[in-house]
Amino acid sequence: MGDYELVRLAWQARERAYCPYSGYGVGAALLAESGRVYQGCNVENAAYPVSSCGERSALFAAVSAGERHFSALAIVGGPMNNPAEMITARVSPCGVCRQALYEFEPQLRLLLVTGPDTWEETTLEQLLPDGFGPQNME
Ligand code: THU
Repeated sequence: MGDYELVRLAWQARERAYCPYSGYGVGAALLAESGRVYQGCNVENAAYPVSSCGERSALFAAVSAGERHFSALAIVGGPMNNPAEMITARVSPCGVCRQALYEFEPQLRLLLVTGPDTWEETTLEQLLPDGFGPQNME
């Protein structure tokens, strides 16, 4: 699974975003070390705080399927009423999702999508340095 394909699957996941309140759709595609990909989208709720981000939707689907280690996560975010070409600001995973991902893969490679087939690469470690993880509980 190449990065280009993973980004394409994140775009596909975003089509399923349920975001009637914010209008901001997020799609995520998480590549597990098994080689399988788990997609997620944001799922909002009339009781706003109940909503889930796309990243955690993908992570929880993967962990529920028995995965524990991950190679890369592609994330696409932007207003749903804009075409892909209009997405100019890249998404950035929220603090809660950074922490949720850190539990399993502090070194996770992140592909933050900036356009139809462009992205910036970073790591979870860069976005959440010195995070609190399982090692702190030992
Ligand atoms: N959202 C995500 O799904 N992931 C992020 O990294 C940032 C924000 C969602 C939450 C909410 O449904 C909408 O985007 C606007 O904040």
